[in-house]
Amino acid sequence: MKAKEWISDLRVYEPGKPIEEVARELGFDDIAAIVKVASNENELGPSPLAIEAMQEAIPEMHRYPDGGAFYLKRKLAEKIDVDPGQLLFGCGSNELIVFLCHVFLGQGTNLIMGAEAFAVYFLAAALYEGEAIRVPMPEHVHDLDAMLAAITPETRLVAICNPNNPTGTVVSKEAIDRFIERLPDHVVAIFDEAYFEVMPEEMKPNVLKHIRAGKENIIVLRTFSKAYGLAGLRIGYAIGHPDLIALLNKVRQPFNVNAMAQAGAMAALDDVPHIVETREMVFQGLEFFERELPKLGIETVPSGANFILVKTGSGREVFQELQKRKVIVRPMDPYGLPDYIRITIGTPSQNQTMLDALKEVMG
Ligand SMILES: Cc1ncc(COP(=O)(O)O)c(C=O)c1O
Repeated sequence: MKAKEWISDLRVYEPGKPIEEVARELGFDDIAAIVKVASNENELGPSPLAIEAMQEAIPEMHRYPDGGAFYLKRKLAEKIDVDPGQLLFGCGSNELIVFLCHVFLGQGTNLIMGAEAFAVYFLAAALYEGEAIRVPMPEHVHDLDAMLAAITPETRLVAICNPNNPTGTVVSKEAIDRFIERLPDHVVAIFDEAYFEVMPEEMKPNVLKHIRAGKENIIVLRTFSKAYGLAGLRIGYAIGHPDLIALLNKVRQPFNVNAMAQAGAMAALDDVPHIVETREMVFQGLEFFERELPKLGIETVPSGANFILVKTGSGREVFQELQKRKVIVRPMDPYGLPDYIRITIGTPSQNQTMLDALKEVMG
């Protein structure tokens, strides 16, 4: 076999273990007692309307999906006030990140990202031999001026996760407007807004206004995995100029978004009460941890997302100790943050279990 070296040298993304496997390894028989707050999922579950729509869709599963996601595109376009031609769906927003790297990166080119930003950008760039340039993040926040300054003639993409995963930090609207004004034409800026729907209103960016005004080299990514509670369906979307969307569409496989995902997402868009309830759960949970953790001497990083980065000292050890107490979080050493863990905001009772376990571990 003679694989491309840059593929055989790749380090594979390590997802968390299935909850059943953790339970088996630790000898727990009651899976329901495990609190898994490791993947920034919605602990309220999927929208009830989405569940109903998916159940109704089952008898049609012998059919291929609508490859153009016609109805979903039309519905979403109306909801966010863009044209259907400005939208593209992916198998999760992860697939759209891969499309962007596929279209824009190759040997001798680079992608600029935050040093503590979502690892998939780095991995997807490597798939296409692109170099990922990681720009330091003072106070864990993307430094947009430094990212602009890092741009070279070889730069093709700049990725800004807002809020960022795993830090939860948000960049200001003013910083974004200044950045977009100064962005060179040869670079596409990706604004990854995976957590947009759970952000406090005053923090929400307005990148769409630039896209509606016809800006060609910026793109927004969003997902149904987080606030909508549909991570298992794998569906996300890109919003951009029709020419940029048309380019990305060239590398898309015809049936990349399955029919169940389209049915669930369509219904979830209508479920406003589910989003409202989710937002309330997240705001209340963030407040809880921001109030309680400092009492244990644990620092928290201000978050605009459905998770919080907390400084426990030796994140890996704390993760292991918490796991023994049936609580699963994410240690942050892979992100160069060995003293931190990331906790997804859960229901009030999950949050309390989490806090009690942490008290024991840290005590
Ligand atoms: C910043 C960010 N972008 C993109 C994703 C990918 O989401 P999905 O592929 O589930 O849409 C995530 C998921 O954790 C994320 O945190």
